[in-house]
Amino acid sequence: MNKKPAKFDLVVVANRLPVDREVGPDGEAGWRQSPGGLVTGLAPVMKTHDGAWVGWAGTPDEEIEPFDLDGMRLVPVPLSNDEFTQYYEGFSNATLWPLYHDVIAPPEFHRTWWDAYLRVNERFAQAAVTVAAENAVIWIHDYQLQLVPGMIRKLRPDVRIGFFNHIPFPPYEIFAQLPWRKQILHGLLGADLIGFQRPYDSANFLRAVRRNVGTVARNGLVRVTDENGEESHTAKAQSFPISIDAAELERLALKPEIQERARQIREEVGNPEVLMLGVDRMDYTKGIRHRIKAFAELLEDGALSVGEVTLVQIATPSRERLEHYKQIRHDVELAVGRINGEYGGLSTQAVNYLHHSFPRDEMVAFYLAADVMLVTALRDGMNLVAKEYVATRVNHDGALVLSEFTGAADELRQAVLVNPHDITGLKAGIMKAVEMTPRESARRMRALRRRVAEDDVQHWSRMFLETLAGLRRDN
Ligand code: ADP
Ligand code: G6P
Repeated sequence: MNKKPAKFDLVVVANRLPVDREVGPDGEAGWRQSPGGLVTGLAPVMKTHDGAWVGWAGTPDEEIEPFDLDGMRLVPVPLSNDEFTQYYEGFSNATLWPLYHDVIAPPEFHRTWWDAYLRVNERFAQAAVTVAAENAVIWIHDYQLQLVPGMIRKLRPDVRIGFFNHIPFPPYEIFAQLPWRKQILHGLLGADLIGFQRPYDSANFLRAVRRNVGTVARNGLVRVTDENGEESHTAKAQSFPISIDAAELERLALKPEIQERARQIREEVGNPEVLMLGVDRMDYTKGIRHRIKAFAELLEDGALSVGEVTLVQIATPSRERLEHYKQIRHDVELAVGRINGEYGGLSTQAVNYLHHSFPRDEMVAFYLAADVMLVTALRDGMNLVAKEYVATRVNHDGALVLSEFTGAADELRQAVLVNPHDITGLKAGIMKAVEMTPRESARRMRALRRRVAEDDVQHWSRMFLETLAGLRRDN
């Protein structure tokens, strides 16, 4: 029986629900955790709040009734097949995603995609206000829903509106390419609080506001005017670096059966002296090719040899119908095939490549099994994988090689920091991690672990929600 009320004091709105609808080979429909860092970050927060989560269930053309899971109400928002193509694959992931990630791939601009983005954002806004109690907090997430704050403000002036951008906000010179830049800025400014991963993202946003919307921004505060030029409210932009549920990961890492599984994993790949690990969504922003190139050159140089060292590369399938995603998968698989053909043996592989997703326990076993973790993203809002690795290293061993172009690099200063575009530098960083003395590893890992334990995801959500609650309401 459904005991929950129809209205909630906290409503989270994100493109994806924390679980995806999945139909098994037997035709039975079930649910499994959705991919990506947004869900990893938000799911533990929502377990401790009695709220609703509004989002898409991951399959197009399916209407699903609201239901309860893990103490929260899930409110599915449907997407038609065309909206899946134009709003999700199109405007969200072929326009905004590459534009906000340093144009690593060229963004495409299509007016039909923008129309779909508008329409779907309106649907999310409507769904959110329907389940929001009077004076509720509505917390909207990520680049897929940047118009929702402005839409909700018009529909429901009583609610407090927060927005958090999980990915970078680009420098103005790049953002300016967007034909709908003003509409996006107005949409975001509908929120009372706009959160970003790094101070740099927040500064980029404020610069874009100054250049386009013409309102004065000081100390992150923006005086927002409505379409008639009347002062409407004050919005605040600030950075709140997201994190992970560090205590939960540590709890898993201490379980004897997971530690045993880590030993098995090492055995399965031939008990190398050094097991290196990469864990990413299969995305061109993650620098997987650069990592494999550096590794191949180290084998070629003779600095590393197969048998002594192996790389396990886990790459979760992602956005698979999009051209740039097909391309990166093709490039990675070609590189893995080449390197294994060249350096592997019958029973030993240079790269063990796994293109699927794993349950949480298995991910922790992989982290525990790895002596060196390689995070070489070309641009990443935060990168939670880096923080997860650190949280699971309960014996204070292991080394993290971390790209300077991740949000995590701002906090995890004791990692071996690298520029993944500089293959020579990346090779040197990998060798530094491989050759690090246990004493040096322990010194760095203790400091990294302290940072991740203190600034965990509960701290992140508390800081965001307290800042939102503390803002003066002048509208
Ligand atoms: P992004 O949000 O861009 O995917 P993050 O590193 O911030 O990147 O977050 C990725 C999340 O997805 C992490 O929580 C990680 O553990 C999880 N993940 C990545 N690959 C897999 C996989 N193959 N199976 C299960 N979880 C995965
Ligand atoms: C990143 C984005 C999220 C997104 C996730 C998975 O973490 O910031 O908004 O949900 O990747 O991508 P997908 O397109 O599968 O939702």
